[in-house]
This record gives sequence, C-alpha cells and structure tokens, in this order.
Amino acid sequence: MSGKDEFHDDPFTGAAHMGRRAEWTENREGTGGIVNPPVWRASTILYPTIADMDAANMRQDSTLFYGRKGTPTHWALREAMTSLEPGAAGTMLYPSGVAALAGAILSVARPGDHILLPDSAYDPTSALANGLLARLGIIWEPYDPLIGAEITRLFRPETVLLLLESPGSLTFEVQDVPAMAAAAKAAGVTSLLDNTWAASLHFKGIAHGCDMVMQAITKYVGGHSDLMMGSVSATPGHFERLRATAWALGQCVSADDASLALRGFRTLPTRMARHEASALTIARWLKTHPLVSEVWHPALPDCPGHTIWQRDFSGSAGLFGVMLNRGSRADAAALFDRLKLFGKGFSWGGYESLAVPTSPEKLRRLNPKHPHGLTLRLSIGLENPQDLITDLTQALDHFATATR
Ligand SMILES: Cc1ncc(COP(=O)(O)O)c(C=O)c1O
Repeated sequence: MSGKDEFHDDPFTGAAHMGRRAEWTENREGTGGIVNPPVWRASTILYPTIADMDAANMRQDSTLFYGRKGTPTHWALREAMTSLEPGAAGTMLYPSGVAALAGAILSVARPGDHILLPDSAYDPTSALANGLLARLGIIWEPYDPLIGAEITRLFRPETVLLLLESPGSLTFEVQDVPAMAAAAKAAGVTSLLDNTWAASLHFKGIAHGCDMVMQAITKYVGGHSDLMMGSVSATPGHFERLRATAWALGQCVSADDASLALRGFRTLPTRMARHEASALTIARWLKTHPLVSEVWHPALPDCPGHTIWQRDFSGSAGLFGVMLNRGSRADAAALFDRLKLFGKGFSWGGYESLAVPTSPEKLRRLNPKHPHGLTLRLSIGLENPQDLITDLTQALDHFATATR
C-alpha cells in the first residue's frame, strides 16, 4: 500500500485513492505509472512451465490463476468496496445485487434452517426466499421492520440468518440495525444488511455490528445506469465462507464492468452529496404541496424510524417515497406520462432522475400499509432541483385536474 493510508478515513480522499495499489497500476517508485487499474480481461492465465502451473495455488486470493478468480481490475474494486465498510475482512463481487443477496444467504443457510426477512424487503429478495430458498428447504419468515431488539422473540433454535434492509424498499422504514445485529450476535444468528440506499457511505453496517453487508453496485456506486453488479463485504469470521460459496457458485463479473464500477466509485461521495441535497430540497417542497399526504424520506419526520436515522446515519440519499392524498395506481398515467425530465423505469441511483408508481400494500405480508392515494418512488438525479420541481409541478397540476 502507499504511504497515504492515514488520509483514507475521509470519504472523498478514500474514493480517490482506494484500490490503486502500485502493483495494479504499475505506479512503482520513480516510474510514474497510470492512474486507473487497467481493464485486465482474462479467462486463461499462462504459466511458463508445468511446474509453475502445478505450483499455482487456486485457493489464494488476489493472485492470477484463472479468470473466474479475478484479475487486478477486480481486486482493485474489491479492495475499494472493502474500504467503505471498516471492520470487513474482504468483499466478493456478483453479477447483480440479487445475486449478491443469494450468494450471502447461501453462504449461511442450509436445508431445515430458518431465516428472517423484513416485511419491507426489496421484492425480489422475498421472491428469492419464497422460491429458490423454500425449494431448498430453507424456511423463511417476514418480520415487522420496526421491531428493533424485540426480534429476539422470533429467533428459533434453527434460525441462522437475520436479513436487514434499512431503509426498507418503497416505504423507507429505518431499522434499529445496531440493536438487531447485537440481538442476532447474542443468539448466534448471522446478520446480513442490504446497505444499498446508504451506499456504505452514510451508514457503516459492519461497524454497527452486522456480519455481512451487501450493496447493489448497480445503484449508487455504478451511478450511471449502465451496469449490473452486487457486492458483499464480511467480517473476518464470515468472509471465508462467503468467498468459498461465491467460488463454488462460479460467481464473477467482467473486468470491463469492474472497471466501470471503479470509475463510479471515484465520484461516489461527490455525487451522493448532490443527490442528498437535491432530494431534500424536493422532498421538503413536496411536503408542502396540497396534493401530498406523506413523504417517506428518512431525514424527514414522517418517515418511520426517522429518529433512528438521526442517531445512526451521517447523511441521506436521493431515493424516497411519496403518498398523494388522492388517486390510485389506476390514475398513474395522469401523473407519470406528463413527466418530461423524470424517466419512467426501474432501478435508481443513476445521474438521471426516475419516477415509478408503487404498490407497497400488495407486497407486505404483515400490517400492509393501505395508502389513501397514489404512492410513488422518486430517485433524484444530478439535474438542477428547480428544474425537477418545475417538472413535478406541471405533472401534479395535470394529475389534480384529471382526478378532480
Ligand atoms: C434495496 C435493493 N437491494 C437490492 C437490489 C438488487 O439489485 P440488482 O438490481 O443489481 O439485482 C435492488 C434493486 O432495485 C434494491 O433496490
């Protein structure tokens, strides 16, 4: 490593420098070198002799062995992602966020085991549990995301995993992660946090007691809506099993995508600061709009778990939910088809703003929140927030007329 390590605690400095080891950038003493780890594409690695080939240790990390084990481009991204979660022993990469969740869960759960998922989990996470995991004989149970330390009541002798997602998808409940991770630890249950919203910038999952932290790199780290990837960072006690499972499942990503993700990583804190400021401006404006009933943004008091966000997070992101005081999903076109700057499409975390209608009540199994108006999710991009407000104003005006 370089002699710059003492600066890497700062998110902006860390983003600029992590994962740029001299041996990955040819930036050796006195040679200059290149700024970015190059794109090392590889399946085959050639050995000078059979003796060298026989000596190659396939179990050793960060050595060239075979493409699936990665190249310096992948190791640079893994090291950069690990730097976002102090206390993590390492990070594995997956071809999507969902693959990362599956890889982390399968590193822990076996047939007959019991796992707990928040009722506000990202829908495909619940679908994974309900489909593949159930088929493998892994029993799953949803829990109230705001249950806090009371989660202990739900632990059974066969419970092996507590999944957390904070804030939750669509309804943005902020969870008491430290209390729940501590309860899990006391019961010998592994905790796994989906930390995609905070991007491991505004909330440090391992430092708050979690054993494993996943992130959909697809969102904020990628940041440009042009790549799919997931990561899981784990404590020393959990990393070996995570890595063995990822290798057993053949999980890997292309060097080109790893390089794109590294490029996104460099500007992550800078973009997040802009996402945060613009989203807050728009969320506060929406709160005063006559058509708006509730704004689910962790930094605003309407949001369930807001005080926990104040206690545990160092900032917020660009994604939040809104409930209007009239209309329903059937009226969505009257609002969404009028938007000019906001794209209509899945995913979030890119530089461009997105809007989607939501139906959280259809996904919740416990205490479904029955909205009294159309609900939506906004991903605020890097545009001028005043332009986004102008766009929302004209679309909401049209919606008001159409639903009068
Ligand atoms: C909270 C959360 N976790 C995980 C994922 C899955 O990521 P990916 O789309 O890369 O599979 C998403 C995607 O929307 C998400 O919103």
